[in-house]
Amino acid sequence: MSKVNVINHPLIQHKLSMIRDLHTGAKEFRELMEEVAMLMAYEVTRNFPLEEVEVETPMATAVCQVISVKKIAVIPILRAGLGMVGGVLRLIPTAKVGHIGVYRDPESLQPIEYYCKLPTDIGERELILVDPMLATGGSTAAAIQFLKQRGATQIRFMGLIAAPEGIEFLQERHPDVDIYVAAVDDRLNSHGYIVPGLGDAGDRLFGTK
Ligand code: PRP
Ligand code: URA
Repeated sequence: MSKVNVINHPLIQHKLSMIRDLHTGAKEFRELMEEVAMLMAYEVTRNFPLEEVEVETPMATAVCQVISVKKIAVIPILRAGLGMVGGVLRLIPTAKVGHIGVYRDPESLQPIEYYCKLPTDIGERELILVDPMLATGGSTAAAIQFLKQRGATQIRFMGLIAAPEGIEFLQERHPDVDIYVAAVDDRLNSHGYIVPGLGDAGDRLFGTK
């Protein structure tokens, strides 16, 4: 069974409260989402393995540690996942970026894939799949399925807010994928929105409603 990590660092919780606020406009919403993604990336990468290297300081040789994972990719689920990419890249600037377009059919709530462009060596990379909202879990589970069909094996999911239903669904479908979120909310409403949540992440990020 995958691990669910709820990252309750005060800075993340403070910024998440501002993101949730309906009075927060698109500019601030985008900035805050990027900041939270950066802070969360710190935790998501916590158990990346290290290896020893020798570094010549001006004084002597120091035995130091560097991350031994050389290949990392961040994969946003379009559209709303785009809001988290910049934050991850601020911590891991050499990561490659792949894109998966999945939208939720508003009637059936079923995920539809409409775009996919990934690094060619996806199977050799540690992947951080990002999407702020894990609601029914359908979009994320489908995106992971698409990644696995293309050879991915090492996947972590990072989101802002999850519904209990989404976590349960994702753990059932992909027990190998650890989940990192800033909050687990109460429930889904009858339209599949997270309550209290933050509303429609894509629309708030891009000002489309
Ligand atoms: C939102 C969100 C997730 C999905 C979550 O995207 O960003 O991808 O819904 O819902 P689920 O867990 O029930 O699948 P949406 O389909 O609204 O597309 P958008 O990002 O293009 O707005
Ligand atoms: N997608 C969103 O953007 N928000 C939700 O609450 C659920 C799905």
